[in-house]
Amino acid sequence: MKLLVTGGAGFIGSAVVRLAVAQGHAVVNLDALTYAACLENVADAAQHPDYVFEQADIRDRAALDRIFATHKPDAVMHLAAESHVDRSIDGPGDFIETNITGTYQMLEAARSYWMAQGKPDEFRFHHISTDEVFGSLGETGQFTETTPYDPRSPYSASKAASDHLVRAWAETYG
Ligand SMILES: NC(=O)c1ccc[n+]([C@@H]2O[C@H](COP(=O)([O-])OP(=O)(O)OC[C@H]3O[C@@H](n4cnc5c(N)ncnc54)[C@H](O)[C@@H]3O)[C@@H](O)[C@H]2O)c1
Repeated sequence: MKLLVTGGAGFIGSAVVRLAVAQGHAVVNLDALTYAACLENVADAAQHPDYVFEQADIRDRAALDRIFATHKPDAVMHLAAESHVDRSIDGPGDFIETNITGTYQMLEAARSYWMAQGKPDEFRFHHISTDEVFGSLGETGQFTETTPYDPRSPYSASKAASDHLVRAWAETYG
């Protein structure tokens, strides 16, 4: 399977890329290389012939269209995000732009590509959320997928918004 992984130079994304390559998947790693990126974390995977790196911003629709058309992925794993809560309190703008607008651009680029491919049933858009959309736990308790949304920071609000966009695109466009 060919995976388009966004944010594949990040903390979790780089582990996803390493695992996917080790399991025999072809990987296109799409990352803007912000302060949070570390390409060293995928240095071993980068030696693999089925690994490609694309430096691009998920807000850049033209770049996304080019990358989908060039690499023709079977599935997307969307991890690229502004992810640090403290930074979201100091400056929420980048979180709105990347996490909400960027996810919207990813959804539209994926939808356009999926339609051009004849709407294959097996295509998947896998969006990575965070437990923070459910708010804060006390000493005890747990979140489940049915816990009501209750974001408490600009970061978690932007992630919640992106979750709702992804759910809406799945319901609306299949
Ligand atoms: N780290 C955690 O504890 C945690 C917990 C739950 C969920 N998550 C979610 O998992 C995902 C990955 O988290 P992480 O900790 O690896 O994040 P990270 O901050 O380490 O990495 C994010 C990656 O996204 C890239 N990126 C940022 N903005 C971009 C843009 N506009 N276009 C393209 N690439 C961009 C960065 O360059 C970086 O490589 C995020 O969606 C995050 O919300 C993280």
